[in-house]
Amino acid sequence: MLKGSVYIETFGCQMNIADTERATSRLRAAGYGISAEAETADVILFNTCSVRARAEQKVFNRIGEIRKGQGVSEPIIGIMGCVAQLEGETLFENGTGVRIVAGTRATDRLPDLIERALDGEKHVLDLGERLEDEQWDVPVVGRHSPYVAYIPIIEGCNKFCTYCIVPFSRGREQSRPAAEIIDEIKRLRGEGYQEVQLIGQNVNSYRPRTEVGLEGFSGATPFSKLLRAAAATKMPRIKFTTSFPRDFHPDIVSAMDEHENLCDWVHLPVQSGSDRILRAMRRGYRVSDYLSRIDTIKNAKRRYALTSDIIVGFPGETLEDFEATLRLIEYCRYDALYIFKYSERPGTPAAVLENNVSDNEKMTRFLELEKLQRDIQKKIYEDFVGREVSVLVERKSAKSDSDMSGHTTCNKVVNFPCREDLKGEIISVRVNEAKANSLYGEIV
Ligand code: 5AD
Ligand code: SF4
Repeated sequence: MLKGSVYIETFGCQMNIADTERATSRLRAAGYGISAEAETADVILFNTCSVRARAEQKVFNRIGEIRKGQGVSEPIIGIMGCVAQLEGETLFENGTGVRIVAGTRATDRLPDLIERALDGEKHVLDLGERLEDEQWDVPVVGRHSPYVAYIPIIEGCNKFCTYCIVPFSRGREQSRPAAEIIDEIKRLRGEGYQEVQLIGQNVNSYRPRTEVGLEGFSGATPFSKLLRAAAATKMPRIKFTTSFPRDFHPDIVSAMDEHENLCDWVHLPVQSGSDRILRAMRRGYRVSDYLSRIDTIKNAKRRYALTSDIIVGFPGETLEDFEATLRLIEYCRYDALYIFKYSERPGTPAAVLENNVSDNEKMTRFLELEKLQRDIQKKIYEDFVGREVSVLVERKSAKSDSDMSGHTTCNKVVNFPCREDLKGEIISVRVNEAKANSLYGEIV
């Protein structure tokens, strides 16, 4: 008999999606049912994000919504992920009716935590550490996609950029044993997966305790060795994100040049184009260091798509600093750019700095940067018109029932008229049209 049904709603990054998959697998193995909707579940878990204030607010709005729609049978509400880790037991206090708070390293213990709540314990709290290294290796069933799998290779962060809450919510960097990662990629390939994405806050800071699993692979860093070992599994597409600029060794580009299945895309967040601001953010590199890495990528054998993150309105950012960011964007010509307005996170070193860029000014800078990026991106996307790209057919297009949608190796979205039974295949598409954030074409 099933112990009860659990519904998990996920906010935030790919790491949270991977944690939800891992939680789901654990719960299934422990005899729980997984519910596709909140209405029918005995337990509702929210896997939360706290990277910016707005992300954090979202979950409280959702809890309010769910409680309003409830009848007589009250489900047990739990919070997991970054907000749980940071707020801890205070989450029991603010009238939201939350009964389980499970931190970022408690995922594997969720079955027990839920059981305690079902047995009547009023408040169940677990902000403890992961039990052991081997606890990484959960056979994941029911991933977010049958063709694309997220594989966490490193968790946590040691960088302590002054604006960022992640080192507090996710703790210190912990690398997953290489042999496990390689086995998982092989297993996924056996199951018909076409793409894996190696994920982590800083994948290129990957540093496992031993190099078991990497024997026979060359590389200047453990991460570039891991890339070569991953490429050798013959998984058709291997992507990785996010890379940290300071640790971005040129050997990563060499490995990518050597192996076609290491996909032609690098996400290398710069955050600012001003040395003064980079120093205040404690990013550990100067603009010139960053640009030398960009040059290595641009001078590689293939063209690699480049994407980045920017924060506008960091405390003390002047117009001059901002203009330096504009110049950097013009130089780098990113395929996509994720722009964020600085959001003060309590407890971070930057939170004590005077937040002296007004909301209005942040918005002005945001829009100016967005416009510049739009113009750059338009040209990059237009360059694809007339070319053939390899696309993994993933899902029905949101816009048209007769179209399918998928990603290129360089991580661009492509839509095209296509039969649904081609789902999961890698096909060749000729691009006919460039849209702002996607390409449109036809199967060759
Ligand atoms: N305010 C705004 N943006 C932030 N990011 C991280 N912390 C903050 C913050 N406090 C952005 C960074 C990071 C991305 C995931 O989120 O650009 O690269
Ligand atoms: Fe946050 Fe910096 Fe770590 Fe990225 S590298 S998670 S921005 S502290």
